[in-house]
Amino acid sequence: MGYEYIDYQKEPSGVGVLTINRPKALNALNWDTLRDLGNFIEKDFPKEEIKALIITGSGEKAFVAGADIAQMSEMSSAEFKEYTDYAHNVYSLIENIPCPSIAAINGYALGGGCELALACDIRIASEKAKMGFPEVKLGIFPGWGGSQRITRIMGVGKAKELIFTGEMISAEEALRIGLVERVVPHEEIMSEARKLAESIAKRAPFAVSMSKKAINSGSEMDLQKALLLEKKLISLCFDSDDRVEGMKAFLEKREPDFKGK
Ligand code: CAA
Repeated sequence: MGYEYIDYQKEPSGVGVLTINRPKALNALNWDTLRDLGNFIEKDFPKEEIKALIITGSGEKAFVAGADIAQMSEMSSAEFKEYTDYAHNVYSLIENIPCPSIAAINGYALGGGCELALACDIRIASEKAKMGFPEVKLGIFPGWGGSQRITRIMGVGKAKELIFTGEMISAEEALRIGLVERVVPHEEIMSEARKLAESIAKRAPFAVSMSKKAINSGSEMDLQKALLLEKKLISLCFDSDDRVEGMKAFLEKREPDFKGK
């Protein structure tokens, strides 16, 4: 694969761990880093094999400290549009990978970093994490999907407070307002993320993937259409080999051996 700014490991449990690796700039997503992330997700992510993906940042201080301010400050309007279009595309690809994604927020998750966490399905934060959208301090606003995804995850009022003030919040506050699902001791962030990923990886992968699709697509539809989608997707699950195996294993009082189809 040969990426300079990301690391990727597949673990025997079927969990993938993707690490943004530019610690000297707190993993800020300059063009090269964003391109590595995009190329990996688009071309090299082995989506058939992976049952849950953890995304984290390298080093002790940061998940991702945002878009690269030094690079942005030199961009023309056209260059900024290209950078933003690309980031939108990468985050949508991440949001729509078939398996669940878990952001293991090991430090600063700011601006584009917080937006990356929002594109993941589940967020776990270290107690040392700091999150927020400092963009309005720079004359922009969270424009890599953040101003839209955040209001679909938590209340509009709190989202506006965070975005309008640009203030960073603690992990505890992020938990309180529903920006993250769990807060764990700093040294346990990866083991807790793995535990969660492994518990997902044990389940029927096709059913997990269809449930993600039902929630993601259904939440953008009116209820009647969403219910029809749910019926269609559960029927696909019912016709899968994993459904036969899951129910058989239950009746035979043994663990299921899912094949993901
Ligand atoms: N872009 C570029 N470089 C960054 C960066 C960023 N977003 N965040 C940190 N860095 C760099 C710093 O410039 C510094 O580099 P040097 O050592 O070469 O000076 C290095 O990372 C370490 O950072 P600090 O010395 O600042 O570390 P600190 O512990 O004192 O502060 C911090 C940490 C509070 C996170 C601070 O670095 C900071 O405020 N960073 C900027 C965060 C930010 O504003 N993010 C939003 C970006 S805009 C965006 O993301 C737009 C969007 O929606 C798409």
